[in-house]
Amino acid sequence: MMASLWVRRLLTSCDGIGNKLVRAASSFDSVMKPLEGFKPTPSFKITVVGSGQVGTAVAAFLLARNLTKNLVIHDVKYDLATSEALDFSHASAFLGNPIVRACGDGNRTKNSDVIIITAGARPSGKTRSRLDVMHKTVEILKSVVPKLAKLSPKAVFIVICNPADVMTFAVQRIGNLEKHRCFTTGCHLDTARFRYLIAKRLKVPTSDVKGYVIGEHGSTAVPVWSSVTVGGIRLSDIVKDLGTAKDAEKWSDLVDGILNAGVHVSKAKGYTNWAVGLTTSDVVACMLQNTGKVCCVGTDVKGLYCLKDSVVLSVPCRVTANGISHIMELPLTEDEHKNLLKSADTLLSAQCSLKW
Ligand code: 2OP
Repeated sequence: MMASLWVRRLLTSCDGIGNKLVRAASSFDSVMKPLEGFKPTPSFKITVVGSGQVGTAVAAFLLARNLTKNLVIHDVKYDLATSEALDFSHASAFLGNPIVRACGDGNRTKNSDVIIITAGARPSGKTRSRLDVMHKTVEILKSVVPKLAKLSPKAVFIVICNPADVMTFAVQRIGNLEKHRCFTTGCHLDTARFRYLIAKRLKVPTSDVKGYVIGEHGSTAVPVWSSVTVGGIRLSDIVKDLGTAKDAEKWSDLVDGILNAGVHVSKAKGYTNWAVGLTTSDVVACMLQNTGKVCCVGTDVKGLYCLKDSVVLSVPCRVTANGISHIMELPLTEDEHKNLLKSADTLLSAQCSLKW
């Protein structure tokens, strides 16, 4: 009797994250006694949807920054996802022993805490316009999001696939997700580029430069020059007409480097992935620390900034473990607010063009 119970125990047990494992019996098990009544607490589980350049960059930084020990790489190309998961797992000794698994049908994503969507159509000869790419990506989202949302009813969705703002609006609607738990990294990346370019020009550490880019994660993004401080000193108090056409120091020359950063980087390598991967890991780190750090992420800002319609765009938000707790109404100059409304109009017409 004891022997069969002992053998049964050997054959079924749980891995560190509560998944029933049927593993080959080993004599080593005789020295590892499972305790009756022990129930494992599943660790902070993250699913990355899409195992392309962006998805694998996001996965790499999540693991390298120790932000998860339970990562699922979900891709309809299951073999590709499997190879990426295996490649990461080979380095598990250097990553704090995470469990990295592949998923093709969505089932393994169950009970994820965070689901990061990077999968999307890529512009190619056939899909000429950005709009064509957008419609193809919505079809991909329609095929994936409902099941993910059903299997992980408490998950926070972070949308990376471009056009990120409009795709976030689409995921909120497809998954019937509240706007606090479905957002895009959006202009958190543009804001990082803004801070870097200012720091580079002034030869100061980027960490000493604060400020925001808001609106669309795209060509109508709005650099908020009035929000910029360098070592706590408001730059607009020092530079007359900062960022305007009258600015003798021509700070607005930096704007191209922000709005077209993706184009400049993609020229040689064909895509961007490192900056957006690190940006995403920064937002996930905020969620894990649950301190309510302010990030310039994008969600539906209806009723704020004089916006009457549901439109997803980036503004400073407090990010917590359960998503966005507060949206900040950043004081803006008249020009900055006018440009934000223009950005909102661009996004609203793109949202209205979506075919459901
Ligand atoms: C970027 O701007 C991929 O949208 C991302 O790099």
